[in-house]
Amino acid sequence: MVHLSSVGLAVAASGLLQTVTAAPQVTTDSASTASTTSFLGGLFDFLDVANLTVTHHNGKLYGCKCSPGQLCWPQQSKWNQLNNTVGGNLKLHIPPAASCYNTFTGPLGTVNTYDAAACADVHANWEDEMWNVEKPGAALWTYFTNETCRPTLNPTDSCTLGYYGVYVITATTRNHIKAGIDFARRNNIRLVIRNTGHDFIGRSTGAGSLIINTHSFQDVQWISSYAGPGSYSGPAVTIAAGVIVTGECPTVGVAGGFIQGGGHGPWTTLKGLSADNVLAFEAITASGHFVTANEAQNSDLFWALKGGGPSAFAVILSVTMKTFNDVSSAGATFYVNNTHIGFDNDAYWNATTIFHKWSNHFVDNGLYVYYELFPFTLRAQPFVAIGKTVAELNAIVAPMLAELTANGIPYEWNPKSFPTFFDLYIDLFEPEAAGGSALTGGWLFDHNDVATNNDGIIEAFKTVFSPRPDIFSFIVGHLFNPGYGAPVSNSATHPSWRNATDFVITVLPVPLGASKAVKADYQNVLTNTIDQALRDASGSGATYVNEADPYQPNWQGHFWGSEYPRLKQIRKKWDPLGVFYSIATPGTEDWEVIQDTRLCRKL
Ligand SMILES: Cc1cc2nc3c(=O)[nH]c(=O)nc-3n(C[C@H](O)[C@H](O)[C@H](O)COP(=O)(O)OP(=O)(O)OC[C@H]3O[C@@H](n4cnc5c(N)ncnc54)[C@H](O)[C@@H]3O)c2cc1C
Ligand SMILES: *[C@@H]1O[C@H](CO)[C@@H](O)[C@H](O)[C@H]1NC(C)=O
Ligand SMILES: *[C@@H]1O[C@H](CO)[C@@H](O)[C@H](O)[C@H]1NC(C)=O
Ligand SMILES: *[C@@H]1O[C@H](CO)[C@@H](O)[C@H](O)[C@H]1NC(C)=O
Ligand SMILES: *[C@@H]1O[C@H](CO)[C@@H](O)[C@H](O)[C@H]1NC(C)=O
Ligand SMILES: *[C@@H]1O[C@H](CO)[C@@H](O)[C@H](O)[C@H]1NC(C)=O
Ligand SMILES: *[C@@H]1O[C@H](CO)[C@@H](O)[C@H](O)[C@H]1NC(C)=O
Repeated sequence: MVHLSSVGLAVAASGLLQTVTAAPQVTTDSASTASTTSFLGGLFDFLDVANLTVTHHNGKLYGCKCSPGQLCWPQQSKWNQLNNTVGGNLKLHIPPAASCYNTFTGPLGTVNTYDAAACADVHANWEDEMWNVEKPGAALWTYFTNETCRPTLNPTDSCTLGYYGVYVITATTRNHIKAGIDFARRNNIRLVIRNTGHDFIGRSTGAGSLIINTHSFQDVQWISSYAGPGSYSGPAVTIAAGVIVTGECPTVGVAGGFIQGGGHGPWTTLKGLSADNVLAFEAITASGHFVTANEAQNSDLFWALKGGGPSAFAVILSVTMKTFNDVSSAGATFYVNNTHIGFDNDAYWNATTIFHKWSNHFVDNGLYVYYELFPFTLRAQPFVAIGKTVAELNAIVAPMLAELTANGIPYEWNPKSFPTFFDLYIDLFEPEAAGGSALTGGWLFDHNDVATNNDGIIEAFKTVFSPRPDIFSFIVGHLFNPGYGAPVSNSATHPSWRNATDFVITVLPVPLGASKAVKADYQNVLTNTIDQALRDASGSGATYVNEADPYQPNWQGHFWGSEYPRLKQIRKKWDPLGVFYSIATPGTEDWEVIQDTRLCRKL
């Protein structure tokens, strides 16, 4: 059944069929002509896409998504219609701490929100990851919400929307997700896909947006022998988009942003990135079509979804992945802190230099290590040796421990054996806190960097700790090498991952209430001092799209290297007009947020 609206017919008849390279259609601020029809085009027809709104800003011409308050913003009746389509699951999006304020004032008006019991719950759980994950639109890392509406003891403070979305669909069926995509496409509304809200760089928030929450998709189906296309016929699992498993952090969603960035975790040294282990996706395209993507069907989309960047090519409904038998494993914690070395800076950097010098050796022996560096604190928790005994793990780390001892540096090394990796995971990995205000950056050090420039890397770490006398930042590191167990990439991820050793995240806390000028200053320090120091100490040319600074120069090359041109082409094919958006993903170089809240394309 194909129903063509008069607008759709006119466009089709005049031969304006959108091709993959089509320029965006535009309309003016005053002429609100967004299509509301139920046009059902082909997989690559975007005939029902609403025109962008033309805006002049700083002497340049932009085509923007429609913002609340503009004439183009859909009438209430249209939102009601959408609400019916999604079974009443459309809600005005109100920030999670609004219950501590008398009122919430968003772009659509003011509502009373104070609720003492709910507010007590907010105060008790603000830093709890799971509590935040369950809120329909909450961002766990709050910096990119504009730090709006944090918990307060003063209900007369003002709670605003900040950079959060305006409406949220808590989707419970595939058709709810489709309805949201179709609505955004036909009405020129910014669209945000929100799974768990873990994103470090604000990609599950967005001013003026309609949010689709995919978190209720929790199906898990085990498959004893995969029968899809390709050579693999072993065990597999199909995970719906909202389900929570694995990663270093147990609350990151596998089938959302994690896999679309590549996904690293404790098994990565042995089995590659999570994306390398995908057999198939079920997804919904920007044109609103349900598709399967695997080696045989839509293979370009399949490849791009494996690490090509989140919310860029399609919305994932489920992912089918290879599974592996769990095995007995050894794990350990390793600490050098001021309990051991006092406030001896030389001893601290000696210990860190020695630890890091052995990082190639660790991953070359199949290990994964998660560690943190703060002043006078080297905290590696855990060392992970899947399928190995404590004796084997001890033998691998022995040269590092011997070198520390030879240098007179005390340390704590606590190895332990586990019947399964899962037992290790539960015992040794720690929960992380939500609600913090920070910018994050990061960089990949490969084997060559560690082999030839370990001292240079350590000097860069010193810059991270003290980029400027008034600013402090710290490091979260991950030792792994996808190329150890998966030497050849089948994913859209940067080729440099195949010789990885240490993926480092830099965390720069930003003071709450910072002015725009102060934020710009911190961003500048992150990009041009902290991460620049890491880049200068490395020849990898690579970093991780999910855990890096989206404002760095040449993010295209750093996230995807030689894969980028193909990714950009695939984006232009599957989402030529930008129904989806998340910052620094393929094809978004001509998009920008102007006037604080408007997502626009440079014309
Ligand atoms: C505490 C913590 C620990 C972490 N540990 C690891 C780790 O060990 N390894 C690792 O690789 N990464 C890790 N990450 C980073 C993680 O991969 C990213 O934050 C990732 O984006 C989370 O995806 P999500 O879907 O859970 O989050 P969300 O914030 O909900 O979404 C992130 C991005 O994915 C898009 N998205 C979500 N769902 C879908 C969907 N169904 N279809 C299309 N697009 C979608 C969103 O629009 C957004 O752009 C960690 C992050 C945190 C905060
Ligand atoms: C978009 O703009 C084009 C060119 O100005 C116009 O022909 C078309 O009708 C508009 N489409 C919609 C849906 O408003
Ligand atoms: C959507 O419908 C439900 C159920 O009728 C209602 O509770 C909710 O307020 C509606 N949402 C909006 C945004 O009007
Ligand atoms: C975001 O915060 C800045 C202050 O840092 C403020 O000037 C601006 O108005 C805020 N914007 C929104 C949409 O909250
Ligand atoms: C050093 O690490 C040990 C092991 O985690 C811990 O018990 C101790 O409190 C730490 N010391 C400091 C000063 O943080
Ligand atoms: C650290 O190492 C240097 C040489 O590399 C040495 O001179 C110094 O004594 C060491 N300091 C400590 C506290 O071990
Ligand atoms: C990885 O790095 C090592 C050390 O520099 C080098 O010898 C090796 O050739 C590299 N391997 C790949 C696949 O690039």
